[in-house]
Amino acid sequence: GVEAKIAPSMLSSDFANLAAEAERMLQCGADWLHMDIMDGHFVPNLTIGAPVIESLRKHTEAYLDCHLMVTNPLDYVEPLAKAGASGFTFHVEVSKDNWRELIQSIKAKGMRPGVSLKPGTPIEEVYPMVEDKNAVEMVLVMTVEPGFGGQKFMPEMMDKVRALRKKYPSLDIEVDGGLGPSTIEMAASAGANCIVAGSSVFGAAEPAEVISLLKKTVNE
Ligand code: DX5
Ligand code: ZN
Repeated sequence: GVEAKIAPSMLSSDFANLAAEAERMLQCGADWLHMDIMDGHFVPNLTIGAPVIESLRKHTEAYLDCHLMVTNPLDYVEPLAKAGASGFTFHVEVSKDNWRELIQSIKAKGMRPGVSLKPGTPIEEVYPMVEDKNAVEMVLVMTVEPGFGGQKFMPEMMDKVRALRKKYPSLDIEVDGGLGPSTIEMAASAGANCIVAGSSVFGAAEPAEVISLLKKTVNE
């Protein structure tokens, strides 16, 4: 089956202590670090970009799972590759005309391509990208409106996850938004294996326990 990957969202960390926060999450059992890159245009919030990824990369060898909530993802491929990003997940809503070029350049730069979709976007829109000869290697199903941590999980998005899992038994399927001990069951049973969790992990007294519960539920 597909392996569980637990990816704490560093958006919920103390940005002023990013390296230490990343190290703490890895000590707590995190598989990946989820990095939310926003441009203040695709979403009404502004976070980090390539310079911060570059700084963090100097402190860790961890898989940096970059989620590009930006209007022009192609512009970020080269800077993020240079900065040391591992995964590059762009949004389908802004890539209708250039997704082939985008996937190709992400791969050419040595990163792992993924595609994400907002709650209002039908799942069918990502199928061509999963089936192309130059395919994405992960689909990120947003379970909140992108832009902010700490929002409520949208269970109706599990229909998308189920449809994807049925069609693509070995695809990495990531869910992002409102995941934690009370929602992981729904996501795992629908077929998600990569779990982003921000507030539920950083807000916990024992993040290691939350991470291990998330992982256990996916692997069950
Ligand atoms: C939202 C981001 C998420 C967010 C998740 O736009 O893509 O990664 O940080 O945070 P929680 O887990 O708190 O919903
Ligand atoms: Zn995200």
